[in-house]
Amino acid sequence: MILKDTKKLELSYIPQKILCRDEEIKRLKIFVEGGKAVISGGVGTGKTMLARYIGGDAYINCFMNKTEHRVLEEILRQLNPKFNPAGLPTQKLWSKVEGGKRIILDEIDGMNIDELKHFAYTLSRQYEVGKKIDYIAITRNHFILKQLINDDAIWSTFAGNSIVELKPYTWEQIKEILESRAKEGISAKAYDDEIISLIADIALHSPGHMRTAIDLLRNSALIAESRGFEKINPDDVREANREEWISDLESMEKKELLVFMATAFSCKNKAYANTDEIKDVLKIKEEEYGIKLSENDFERIFQLLVQQDFIYEGKKGYTILNYPIKTLIEEIHERIKR
Ligand SMILES: Nc1ncnc2c1ncn2[C@@H]1O[C@H](COP(=O)(O)OP(=O)(O)OP(=O)(O)O)[C@@H](O)[C@H]1O
Ligand SMILES: [Mg+2]
Repeated sequence: MILKDTKKLELSYIPQKILCRDEEIKRLKIFVEGGKAVISGGVGTGKTMLARYIGGDAYINCFMNKTEHRVLEEILRQLNPKFNPAGLPTQKLWSKVEGGKRIILDEIDGMNIDELKHFAYTLSRQYEVGKKIDYIAITRNHFILKQLINDDAIWSTFAGNSIVELKPYTWEQIKEILESRAKEGISAKAYDDEIISLIADIALHSPGHMRTAIDLLRNSALIAESRGFEKINPDDVREANREEWISDLESMEKKELLVFMATAFSCKNKAYANTDEIKDVLKIKEEEYGIKLSENDFERIFQLLVQQDFIYEGKKGYTILNYPIKTLIEEIHERIKR
C-alpha cells in the first residue's frame, strides 16, 4: 500500500502541521482577534487552508454564491440549519445573522460587483446596529479587490490594515511542505527526495502552485498503486503531469530527436540527469541510429530544447516533466527510424 490515507491528501484536509507560514499565522490571529482579516495570495498559496485552520462558524465560497442574498442564505443555513430563508428580503436576512460568530468568505472577489460593494459595506458596519460579525475574507489579490470595491471609505472599514499577504512558496518550501504532507498520507517506503524534488519542480512553475503539488503527490501515488508498485516512480509523476504535446515531435529534425532521445534515456527510472550522462548516452544512440553530431550541434540543440521547454532545467539536474519517459522514448524512436 502506497497511500496510507487518501483523505489526508485531499484539498479540503487541514494538515496537522502547517509549515512555512508561522509569521502569517501570527498576524492572522491578531487581526482575527480584532474581528476582521483579509487573506490575499495567488492560487495555491494556502489561503483556504489557513482560514480553515484558524476556523470559523460558517464557510462560504462567494464564487459559487455571487449575490449578497445567496451569501446570507448560506451563512444562515450553516449557523442555524433549521432556519428557512426562503422568500425573505436581504435586509431581513442580515437581521437574522447571529452576532459573535466568525464567517469565512472565500474568493470574495467572485461576487457580482454591485453586490460585493453593498455586502462589504453592510458587513463591516454591523457594529453600528450593535452587532459584531467577525470575518476572514479571502482574495487572490487585495489590490484588485480594492479596485472592485472602488470606495476608499468602504474599503478602509472592510479591510483596513488587516491584510495578510501570502507570498508564493519557494522550491525549498514546496519540498518541505510536500515532505510533511507525504509523511502524513503516504507510506515512508513509497517516496524519496528525488520524487519530492521532481514534484516541487513542476509545482514551482505551475499556475496551481501548492495546489498542483498536492494533486500531483496524490495522483502519482494512485498511479503507482494502480500499477502494482510499492514505490512512486519518476514516470508516475510524469504520467500524472502528462500534457499532450507529443505531436510537436513532428516538427523536429533527426538530430534534435536524437538529443531529446538521449536526454529521455538518461532520465529513465530516475528524476534528473546531468549533461555528462546525456552526452554519454548520445554517443551510444549516434551509433545505434547512424547519425553523427558535432559538439556544436549538441550544445545548440540542447539549449534549443531547454528553451522550448521540452527539456527542463530543474534544481537537481535536467529532466522531462510532462511526459512519461517510457512512452516518449518509443515515440521518438518511431520518428527517427522514418
Ligand atoms: N504551508 C502548508 N502546509 C501544508 N499544506 C499546505 C500548505 N500550504 C498549502 N498547502 C496545501 O496546498 C493545497 C492548496 O492550498 P489552498 O487550497 O489553501 O490554496 P489557496 O490559496 O486557497 O488556492 P486557490 O486560490 O486555488 O483557492 C492544499 O491541499 C493545502 O492543504
Ligand atoms: Mg482557496
